[in-house]
Amino acid sequence: MERSHPVKSAVDKIIDTVAGGQPAEIPGVPNSEPPSLEEPTEPREPLPPKPDQSGPDTYSPTGQPTDTPRGKMAQGGPYLTTAQGLRVRDTDHSLKAGPRGPVLLQDHHLREKIMHFDHERIPERVVHARGAGAHGVFRGYGAASNVTRAAFLGKDVETPVFVRFSTVIGSRGSADTVRDTRGFATKFYTSEGVFDLVGNNIPVFFIQDAIKFPDVIHAAKWHPDREIPQAQTAHDTFWDFAGLHTEATHHTLWNMSGRGIPRSYRMMEGFGVHTFRLVNEEGATTLAKFHWKPKLGVHSLVWEEAQLLGGVDPDFHRRDLFDAIESGAYPQWELGLQLFPDTPDQMFEGIDLLDSTKIVPEELAPVQPVGLLTLNANTSNFFAETEQVAFHVGHLVPGIDVTDDPLLAGRLFSYLDTQITRLAGPNFPQIPINRPHAPVNDMQRDGFHQTAVHRGVAPYRPNSLDGGCPFTAGADQGAFVEVPVEVSGRKVREAPASYDDHFSQARLFWLSMSPVEREHIVAAYTFELGKCYEQAVKERYLRVLANIDPVLCRQVAEGLGLPAPDASQPLADPSPSPALSQVGQTWPTDGRIIGIIAGDDDAEAVGAVRQAVLDAGMVPLIIAPTGGMLGGTLPVQRTFTTARSVEFDALLVASAPAPGKDAYGARDAKAGGGADSPIDPRVLLLITEAYRHAKPIGGWGAASQVLSQAGIPAQAPGVVVADDGPSALDGTLRFLAAHRVWDRFPAAAALT
Ligand code: HEM
Repeated sequence: MERSHPVKSAVDKIIDTVAGGQPAEIPGVPNSEPPSLEEPTEPREPLPPKPDQSGPDTYSPTGQPTDTPRGKMAQGGPYLTTAQGLRVRDTDHSLKAGPRGPVLLQDHHLREKIMHFDHERIPERVVHARGAGAHGVFRGYGAASNVTRAAFLGKDVETPVFVRFSTVIGSRGSADTVRDTRGFATKFYTSEGVFDLVGNNIPVFFIQDAIKFPDVIHAAKWHPDREIPQAQTAHDTFWDFAGLHTEATHHTLWNMSGRGIPRSYRMMEGFGVHTFRLVNEEGATTLAKFHWKPKLGVHSLVWEEAQLLGGVDPDFHRRDLFDAIESGAYPQWELGLQLFPDTPDQMFEGIDLLDSTKIVPEELAPVQPVGLLTLNANTSNFFAETEQVAFHVGHLVPGIDVTDDPLLAGRLFSYLDTQITRLAGPNFPQIPINRPHAPVNDMQRDGFHQTAVHRGVAPYRPNSLDGGCPFTAGADQGAFVEVPVEVSGRKVREAPASYDDHFSQARLFWLSMSPVEREHIVAAYTFELGKCYEQAVKERYLRVLANIDPVLCRQVAEGLGLPAPDASQPLADPSPSPALSQVGQTWPTDGRIIGIIAGDDDAEAVGAVRQAVLDAGMVPLIIAPTGGMLGGTLPVQRTFTTARSVEFDALLVASAPAPGKDAYGARDAKAGGGADSPIDPRVLLLITEAYRHAKPIGGWGAASQVLSQAGIPAQAPGVVVADDGPSALDGTLRFLAAHRVWDRFPAAAALT
């Protein structure tokens, strides 16, 4: 029996770009058909993909639509073959002279199989190696048409997209939840060629000039002698560099805030960082910064959660993205533009628009929505799509041009350069996920992995032998024409004086944070610097913090056991930007994970609440003493052995389960020391951890008993004990809409 998609048919998924869907089933199913207990023996075609999965659209290597169904890019046929299509009778034994060998050199199947396996790996990205991707649709609102002629931003124009989210520092197999910047790269397959918006979840960068990129990355990655630590900046080389190179201060402060540990890719903003130059039909230009605004709000993990997840579920962000799409909770972002007059000095309100370490506060230049991105399909093959996708800031379309930001200039060189090595040769634009959806006639020829079969004899211009084709186009025929800006200057290795201000916007960020956000920032610096070995590195960085804010500096210094230095220059007095804070509002809870702690005695009430969670567009995971079916009817997703609080956004307590048969330390360390407890100690751990992480907790029936045993006051903020399941859920969701119950742990007086 084929599994059907809970909410959306495959067709809906492609055409439904707005509404998203409601989770209706537990995501995570491995394939489109449940496996049989016995090994299948009847030859059959490969299973169809799961309904949530899609591959790239089927375009030719030269950007022309084909009639090929997507499935035809996958392997087919019921029988195992060689790479040449030859059917194979035995793939378990190499060809030998007698059962004990030796193996014969003539075994072409062995040779081919091992050869291919030996070459399965390709170099990982030099940065942003760890990531996850999804397909989707972008729909323009038409609101940008007065400032840019880019066709994909036109009213109701729908453009297929592929998005890859990533961390920066870690290797391909590193944990998702490390403290780091996140990449947010979007490939728009527009009718005018591919446009890539290769951004981050932080609007500023570590450096102002690309020539320093190798330095900042070498400092942030592992120490070269031992290759530790993996995927984190909590070590001497990073803070050594950051203390000596103070233009990194602003970006580093964002990293130390909740932005460095997002709750989900779905709950991150995205930023193009640089200022771009937009051009409209009349040729008028406007400077612009790109923003992605998540419909679910911007939310973060707390640091202990992030650390636990690194071990409990290193794939936490990947899983969250895949599961949300699979369950129909399609993530959405609005694309927005901040617009600035294209003045000769390229400044706005005193802010240098070519300095990528600076933001323009939204209060000064509001973000104007110009379109909606919906991610509505998972990849069907991670390597073919997510690993082989190749983004490049130089993939532009008419209406969007670059500026002279020196960081952008280096990127314009870097991406193609690195991809030649990573994807082995110059033909990576022909890999299916990279193919444009616009006809390609580029006169590039040959090279490794050439998959186009070109015609003609004259791949040069001018020619007459191929009838003069291809011809260059004018702007009227959709050509990209660089804006003819004046350039002049002396040849120097210098930066403008405005680039010398390294602290005023870091102070702006600090002053814009709520007290609890400041607590987290203090804790993050104290942790990271506390992991450094060298005293000088810590002391030097305290001098940097003193130039952001004396309270921040003093609090971190106290944690490090060091004196707090004074600022070395006058502190700026910027107006706070409320838009930078992540707290104080409410947001939709779509796709959130609700753990329901159940015993064997309450299946009916649990079933009703489970359904209510599904109806509210979230994912209910039943946590019970053992696996199987609760009350014979409800599938159990987690047991007390497998559940850990960090995977849930909120908990509902339906039962007070007595210690399970495996609830003792020798079997499960989580239960250690709690043998005399009337309630399974792992349930108490689950609840106390969730409480500590400021998550909403609701319950009914025996919940009061469980909470009291866990030492949690029933009146504590964000704890809802109700008469029945639906009321408990309602109360809990009110807190979940604000993401966390920050009132539970008030900030210290010094930070309020
Ligand atoms: C505003 C600053 C920057 C942003 C927002 C940014 C963003 C990104 C993102 C999102 C990716 C991952 C792309 C993917 O998912 O495949 C990436 C990869 C990469 N970035 Fe950057 N980056 C920045 C600066 C730089 C600079 C200054 C350089 C070099 C001079 C650079 C070099 C690279 C390289 C080599 C890759 C790997 C690309 C690949 O292997 O396909 N980046 N960057």
